[in-house]
Amino acid sequence: MLAGINMKPEFHHHTALITGASSGIGAAVAHALAARGASLVLVARRAMELKRVEREIRSSASESTAEIHCIPADVTAAMDRQRIRDFLEQKQLPLHILINNAGITSHARFDETQSDVLRRTMEINFFAAVELTAQMLPLLKKSARPTGGRKSIVLVSTPSGLYGIPGRFAYSASKAAGHVWMEAMRQELKADQIQCNIICPGYTRTALRQSGLDGQGNTIQEEQAKEAKSPHYMAVQIINGIIKNKRLLLTDTNGRFVYWLRTLAPGLLERIMAKKLAKDLRGSVE
Ligand SMILES: NC(=O)c1ccc[n+]([C@@H]2O[C@H](COP(=O)([O-])OP(=O)(O)OC[C@H]3O[C@@H](n4cnc5c(N)ncnc54)[C@H](OP(=O)(O)O)[C@@H]3O)[C@@H](O)[C@H]2O)c1
Repeated sequence: MLAGINMKPEFHHHTALITGASSGIGAAVAHALAARGASLVLVARRAMELKRVEREIRSSASESTAEIHCIPADVTAAMDRQRIRDFLEQKQLPLHILINNAGITSHARFDETQSDVLRRTMEINFFAAVELTAQMLPLLKKSARPTGGRKSIVLVSTPSGLYGIPGRFAYSASKAAGHVWMEAMRQELKADQIQCNIICPGYTRTALRQSGLDGQGNTIQEEQAKEAKSPHYMAVQIINGIIKNKRLLLTDTNGRFVYWLRTLAPGLLERIMAKKLAKDLRGSVE
């Protein structure tokens, strides 16, 4: 059982589609939603890892999920997004919660970043989320809201999407674009009673720092941040953000600090960020 999760099945009769469910935060959210009674559609490229997540959920006595479906797919590929939609329609599955979580980071200065790296980062973190949502929106709209339940589109973002982080402009830009998309969509979907929740987890112990890109497109190998929390902890925050219908949820002090400082004291924030960049360039990240 996951610490901190209230075991009441708040997501009974809900179907949730989670991208990037093969590891890290996405896999933890799958466990947490299963523990609360949701049926799951799990999406990521690595079929075996998806199956492992499915097995782990099924073997956990406390996590009784109505149904689990795994769809190996690359969310940046239009054909794969269509295949996900076709799968749900053929199985006549409803859709209540769409969690756009699949993502990569990229760490490099602007003047040292190849344009292909920026495009790949935007493709996964922004365009894939937007275009998968466009595919799924008709299904979300027509699925009846479970009694006492909710319909939600979630963007798993980052505090780096609140401000241009030096040495990480591509990651910041890809998530910031997602924020304004979600803000516009939230207002447009009010009449459909579909909530739009932007959730910005703080540092989390996942593979993100071994799957991201440097400026040349090579995979980065960075250590975890010292203050990184567990994916399970973050999953609980995300679930609570959905239940409380948070417009923007910042899970840690760093995020809240950036959020307020960028408006109240932007000069001070720039000085802090300049120190961080200098430290990163010396090779000691965070
Ligand atoms: N870790 C942190 O400190 C942190 C902090 C704030 C926000 N976040 C956000 O949390 C989200 C999840 O990241 P994580 O930290 O859990 O890292 P992770 O363990 O590396 O998870 C990334 C997931 O995205 C999937 N993915 C990547 N590219 C994909 C593609 N083209 N198509 C389908 N799936 C794809 C990966 O699965 P496959 O490789 O199997 O496709 C994997 O399941 C990201 O959006 C990240 O920006 C993380």
